[in-house]
Amino acid sequence: MNNSIQVCDKTFRPYLSQEQILAEVKRVANQINEDLAGKDPLFICVLNGAFIFAADLYRNITIPSEITFMRMKSYVGTETTGKVKVISSLHESVVGRTVVIVEDIVDSGYTMKSMIEQLQTHLGAADVRVCVLLNKPNARRVEGLNIDYCCLEIPNDFIVGYGLDYNEQGRNLPDIYVVEA
Ligand code: IMP
Ligand code: MG
Repeated sequence: MNNSIQVCDKTFRPYLSQEQILAEVKRVANQINEDLAGKDPLFICVLNGAFIFAADLYRNITIPSEITFMRMKSYVGTETTGKVKVISSLHESVVGRTVVIVEDIVDSGYTMKSMIEQLQTHLGAADVRVCVLLNKPNARRVEGLNIDYCCLEIPNDFIVGYGLDYNEQGRNLPDIYVVEA
């Protein structure tokens, strides 16, 4: 049986099922509910990739809190460009607040590092937590990046689905797929 799929010019095979993903998302949401009760955290979903993860995560958040969105871009095709662009920034103040950055994946770490710096140093957030669906520790190109909440760690392979794209395609796939070598 061949369950491979085609996205643009590449072939991908099934990697993580929706069920597997959701179990981990619920585990992380419960941990956040416990850790941040009484802090009225502001969740910041990093667009575009994290929108599906953020929706599932936030439906499992039961403590008083808010959610907002920021849009960043660093990838073209399957490679990070190393330059992180803010396409759309925040409209609300984070001064003195507990914020939770909700990101699909940490790869080189450039996007996350730049977001933490902005929120802490320039925008004055009191406590910046990092919540990611996937972590690729072997792809890291920045030092000292702390991930507070992580659903799954994966090897350094390119993936699509569940919000993640290849050249903007494939975000609608319910499961996650990995590129064929
Ligand atoms: P970083 O700045 O290199 O850590 O990259 C983070 C961003 O690159 C993520 O927010 C994703 O949008 C994108 N990205 C990294 N790895 C993948 C992947 O395997 N598939 C799809 N997008 C990815
Ligand atoms: Mg992203």
